Amino acid sequence: MPGLVSCPGGLIVIGILSLCVVHISSEIWSNEVSDVQYGSLGSSVTLTCGGAQHGSPVHWRHNGSTVRFRHTHTSNGTLILHNTTRSMEGNYSCHNQRGVLLQTIRLRLGHSPGYLNVSCRVPSHFIIHCFWTQRVTTHLPTNYITTYSVNDERAQHCKQTSMDVNECTINNHEFWKPKCLVNITEVNPLGSNSTIIYVDVQKSMKPHAPEAVTALEVPGESTRLLVQWNFPQSWPVMAGLPLKFELQYKPVGSNYWSKLETEDTSAQIMDALESHLHHIRVRAQDALINYSQWSEWSQVVQAQPWSDPLVTAEVTTDEPFDFPIFPSTFPVRATEKSPDLPPSENGSLGLLITLGLFVAVMVAVVSSVTTLLWIRNRRRDNVTKQELTSMVKMKSLPV
Ligand SMILES: *[C@@H]1O[C@H](CO)[C@@H](O)[C@H](O)[C@H]1NC(C)=O
Ligand SMILES: *[C@@H]1O[C@H](CO)[C@@H](O)[C@H](O)[C@H]1NC(C)=O
Ligand SMILES: *[C@@H]1O[C@H](CO)[C@@H](O)[C@H](O)[C@H]1NC(C)=O
Ligand SMILES: *[C@@H]1O[C@H](CO)[C@@H](O)[C@H](O)[C@H]1NC(C)=O
Ligand SMILES: *[C@@H]1O[C@H](CO)[C@@H](O)[C@H](O)[C@H]1NC(C)=O
Ligand SMILES: *[C@@H]1O[C@H](CO)[C@@H](O)[C@H](O)[C@H]1NC(C)=O
Ligand SMILES: *[C@@H]1O[C@H](CO)[C@@H](O)[C@H](O)[C@H]1NC(C)=O
Ligand SMILES: *[C@@H]1O[C@H](CO)[C@@H](O)[C@H](O)[C@H]1NC(C)=O
Repeated sequence: MPGLVSCPGGLIVIGILSLCVVHISSEIWSNEVSDVQYGSLGSSVTLTCGGAQHGSPVHWRHNGSTVRFRHTHTSNGTLILHNTTRSMEGNYSCHNQRGVLLQTIRLRLGHSPGYLNVSCRVPSHFIIHCFWTQRVTTHLPTNYITTYSVNDERAQHCKQTSMDVNECTINNHEFWKPKCLVNITEVNPLGSNSTIIYVDVQKSMKPHAPEAVTALEVPGESTRLLVQWNFPQSWPVMAGLPLKFELQYKPVGSNYWSKLETEDTSAQIMDALESHLHHIRVRAQDALINYSQWSEWSQVVQAQPWSDPLVTAEVTTDEPFDFPIFPSTFPVRATEKSPDLPPSENGSLGLLITLGLFVAVMVAVVSSVTTLLWIRNRRRDNVTKQELTSMVKMKSLPV
């Protein structure tokens, strides 16, 4: 995937680098209602009845009814749930012997953070945009600590614009050093896990597609088209950084794009096909780093070269199609126009027909000869049979 930096190799490094920062999680969630308890799915979870007096028995309810899961009820009032599943989430309340509510605990079950799928895009020299998805669905409230460091310097924040969307953006008004480490740490009540990916800024540079592409006819010029576009908005034009553009065009229906390269934001197609509608698209690449990524293609626009209104009709009907340039483009036309086929093809067709006729004649001759022979044999057989029977009859006749 060009332009994306996914870092499977980095994951091994992360295994070593990830630090268990459980203290962070306790800081973050300690403000929450004290009676929310988090547990790890599949493990055993122990619920403690806070208000229980030592030694006095308590009973537990789940979502208001008796606890129906496999559990252990200890004498000191704790409830131990085994092999927890998500249906064991909910409200647990403990009551004393007289039924008085002592405490309610809301249990939430999930997984501790795993590694993340992190990708980063570099749409210009001054922006790195990273986004990620969980590889392990944790089912738990989650925060992300997002940092980056350039050249092993002190870590700085990768700004998260919205806490709901898993993405962050690095803005910097210096030129990027080529080496940038992005550290996305997922933190939830059960733990934390850091995913670190290495971004090669220059290799990953992939501008956004050129914008506002337009194509116009050039009055008086039947094979020209004038194409114009804008730099992508995210490109720092003010910084004077050049982009190069590739423009591609083809007559509608053709499979082959012709191309032009330029560092301008306009170009003239000089060899458009007269009176044909063309498809045109443009893409961009950093002009200084030739191993950086090409942008996606812009939207395709359509345009047809200027044609003289007085001769248009004649031109469109009589203009022979330009076979040498677009060889396999219009195969249908080639068959429609079979009388115009080049002589070599005509010759081979003639040869084929002659061969076919010859074979047909041979087959006819051979089969008729065979039939004749067969009929003759048949007749002879019949004759001999008749002779025999008549002889037998004659013999059996009383003399
Ligand atoms: C659990 O308790 C919370 C608040 O104490 C309440 O909003 C929620 O509806 C309860 N859920 C169930 C299933 O009883
Ligand atoms: C209650 O008993 C269980 C074992 O029966 C023990 O693991 C737990 O620590 C005890 N809890 C308290 C609050 O004494
Ligand atoms: C938990 O479930 C697994 C299989 O799902 C089973 O092998 C294991 O014995 C169970 N453990 C307990 C404590 O029930
Ligand atoms: C208890 O309520 C929680 C939601 O609070 C729900 O997820 C769980 O399935 C409920 N369980 C039972 C047994 O009612
Ligand atoms: C991070 O997640 C991976 C699995 O995705 C796990 O193997 C590793 O132990 C986790 N690290 C920590 C510190 O939890
Ligand atoms: C993470 O990315 C890998 C490959 O890039 C993919 O196979 C996997 O399904 C992704 N996981 C998630 C949870 O998106
Ligand atoms: C990644 O960020 C976390 C949270 O800020 C930090 O604890 C961890 O040390 C960082 N890892 C590296 C390799 O910088
Ligand atoms: C980039 O330019 C260098 C020389 O300037 C050339 O050797 C190399 O092949 C080019 N790479 C690409 C991908 O065009």
